[in-house]
Formats: sequence, C-alpha cells, structure tokens
Amino acid sequence: MEPVPPLSDADRPVRRCVCPGSYDPITLGHLDVIKRAAQLYDEVVVAVLYNQAKEGMFTPAERRELINAECAQLPNVRAIEFQGRLLVDVCKELQIAAIVKGLRGETDYSYELPMAVMNRYLTGVETVFLPGDPSYTQVSSSLIKEVARFGGDISGLVGPGVASALAAKLG
Ligand code: PNS
Repeated sequence: MEPVPPLSDADRPVRRCVCPGSYDPITLGHLDVIKRAAQLYDEVVVAVLYNQAKEGMFTPAERRELINAECAQLPNVRAIEFQGRLLVDVCKELQIAAIVKGLRGETDYSYELPMAVMNRYLTGVETVFLPGDPSYTQVSSSLIKEVARFGGDISGLVGPGVASALAAKLG
C-alpha cells in the first residue's frame, strides 16, 4: 500500500481557540494560559465578556486594549469583546473549535465543568483545560483589585501596563 503523503501546511485547516473571560483586568495568570494556548493553536482569540449586571472596574474597550498590550509579542493572539450572546455562537461565527481555560484548583474545575459540558451539548465545541501555573494559584482579577485598592503590592502578579492602569483608576 502506498504511504499517505503528509498534508502540506496549505491544506491544513487553521486551528483556532478562544480564551474567554471577564479580564477585569488581565493578570499574569491569564497571560500564562494565553501564551500556552498560543503555542498549541494557530490563532488565539481572547474574548472579553462584558456583563452589564457586573459593571467592573475597566470598560470592555479598556480590557481589550490592556490584553492587546500584554500580548503584543504574541502575533497569533487578538482580543475581541462580546456581550448579550452565547460564547458558542461566537465560536461558530469565528470558526473556533476549542475553548481553552486555565484551572487553578478544584474550585475552578467545579465552576468550569458544567459550562464545558453545556457548551459541548449546544454545538459540540470542546473545552481544553490547562493546569494553572503554581506561581499564580492565588491570582484572580478580583483579588488583584482589592489588594491594589488598599495599597498592596501587585507588581509581580500583573504586567506593568495593567499595574499603571490600576493605579490610574484608583487615583
Ligand atoms: O472570567 P469569567 O467571568 O469566569 O468568565 C466566564 C465566561 C465569560 C467564560 C462565561 O460566563 C461565558 O462564557 N459567558 C458567555 C455567555 C454564555 O455562553 N453562557 C453560557 C455558558 S455555558
């Protein structure tokens, strides 16, 4: 039997994933997951969910700009905003085959698993979980904001641009 020739790069479909979240603001924990996703997929779409019920500190445009600045060295990463629609519909529209999420521990897993199962039920889109880097298990956007608000040092947990943006917001 003739050996099957490998697909050339031109024949291979683009493998795209999404890293969804609130990103209010992006932390080094988020960035670690995005960088690792960028090594696994051809293109990474960082989808910023804006929830009107949970106004947050940064506007959706500010969150997107902070992400784009943090990811400036990652040419296959881009950020978008979405609201008032299902993540699976964004995936369909942008031909995204996988949702990539970082898991810091069991609490994240319990929160993420039902969403992963629901998203797969709705359209078949798969969720890929990456173990969070142990250096960032304590890092969440809400804790960062609280620590920054009371003058704690968050410089090792967010990028310099995000630290400046937080300082500017908090006056
Ligand atoms: O950073 P967060 O707030 O934990 O991210 C939650 C997010 C954005 C991933 C989730 O709320 C989401 O996907 N919302 C979009 C609406 C949707 O698709 N809901 C059904 C999820 S099964």
